[in-house]
Amino acid sequence: MTSATQAQPAAAKGVYDSRSIHLHWVTAVIVALLWGIAELIDLFPRGAPKIAVRSVHIVLGLLLVAVTVRRLSWRSSSGRIVPPAPGGLWGHAAKISHAALYAVLVIVLLLGISNAWARGDSIFSLFSIPKLLPAFPSLKPAVGRLHKIGANALVILALLHALAALFHHYVLRDTVLQRMLVHRKTP
Ligand code: HEM
Ligand code: HEM
Repeated sequence: MTSATQAQPAAAKGVYDSRSIHLHWVTAVIVALLWGIAELIDLFPRGAPKIAVRSVHIVLGLLLVAVTVRRLSWRSSSGRIVPPAPGGLWGHAAKISHAALYAVLVIVLLLGISNAWARGDSIFSLFSIPKLLPAFPSLKPAVGRLHKIGANALVILALLHALAALFHHYVLRDTVLQRMLVHRKTP
């Protein structure tokens, strides 16, 4: 009930509603943290330190799963869907790139969960994730590689997407970036 009314005033102004904006930036921050932490894992000595850093990655990954489920369900119910600013071919390109960001994000999250299962991991040495299909030892490196490739593709896509947003703001001087920044209190 409140959800639908929250989204409405922002819709009237052609900007994303505040919940969509919030979920977008939380996603961006968590993806950056996950990628950075993953790159650091191998710098830590084997045993408790490495398990701790990997555990932070897994727990943060699960938090992003929850944020993404919330975001997709919000978008498909009350969230404001703002049409692309440019028309024609560029508008199509914007739509496709947004769909690709959502798709790659979901794929990387699913591969991340599969990776933890294929490896059989420990969370802060408190809980253990059972190893899936131990009879197939090639599963672990294969899923790990796919998760890493997907994560790198997501980061590259997100960087291009961010550059496009900055191009709109500083070169084209339109409101594309602003509509993902504007935070208005709604009645
Ligand atoms: C968008 C979200 C994610 C990104 C960007 C990401 C990024 C990465 C990257 C780049 C690596 C490779 C590290 C390396 O070998 O150099 C990695 C490894 C890993 N990720 Fe993720 N990840 C994400 C989500 C998840 C999720 C949701 C889980 C599980 C719930 C997960 C579990 C793992 C595990 C277990 C490893 C192996 C760590 C190791 O080799 O020690 N990831 N991740
Ligand atoms: C991992 C990082 C990111 C992901 C996964 C991501 C994903 C997305 C997605 C899926 C949309 C479409 C929203 C929808 O219609 O539901 C979007 C919109 C947008 N994003 Fe990002 N984003 C990321 C980072 C960034 C960054 C760093 C910037 C700016 C510097 C940015 C600026 C924008 C803007 C301005 C829009 C609105 C575009 C429009 O209305 O046409 N994003 N983002």
